[in-house]
Amino acid sequence: MDFKKYITIVPDYPKKGIQFKDITTLMDNGDVYRAATDEIVKYAKEKEIDVIVGPEARGFIIGCPVSYAMGKGFVPVRKEGKLPREVVKVDYGLEYGNDVLTMHKDAIKPGQRVLITDDLLATGGTIEATIKLIEQLGGVVAGIAFLIELTYLDGRKKLDGYDVFTLMQYSGE
Ligand code: PRP
Ligand code: MG
Repeated sequence: MDFKKYITIVPDYPKKGIQFKDITTLMDNGDVYRAATDEIVKYAKEKEIDVIVGPEARGFIIGCPVSYAMGKGFVPVRKEGKLPREVVKVDYGLEYGNDVLTMHKDAIKPGQRVLITDDLLATGGTIEATIKLIEQLGGVVAGIAFLIELTYLDGRKKLDGYDVFTLMQYSGE
């Protein structure tokens, strides 16, 4: 399937010079959203994962249907102040901004094989931070799956040594 057909490029959003990749036009098509999810499920099965971790908000959109399809748990990574119990936390840099990510301290058990999901690999900052949270708890990052990779931002460099799967790649703005 030509998944790129269902991504809408929005010029100059959220600021001038950024060509925003809008995934909502993929998600609102049930057959295409399912087909994209199936590709990630296939990858996750090869990696023999135990649990899925996704950063808010768009990591949930990718990870939760994979969780349902596989009957594996889903662990949310959230911005500071959103999770009600004891958390591990990490500072991270974004394509445009800075923030803190947190995850419940008891969410991952040592040795568990984790699949990380998100919609987009840009600079890799979000997922680099997510990896730190998982590894602090003794989890093993067995694979990382995205819908979209912006190859010109070199996010893979930050994820060196990890197995990365991307469904679509964009090599220029
Ligand atoms: C976007 C996107 C990825 C991240 C990619 O999330 O959903 O998570 O940026 O950028 P990076 O590779 O440079 O870290 P954003 O923080 O905008 O929040 P959202 O998912 O809640 O929309
Ligand atoms: Mg995000």
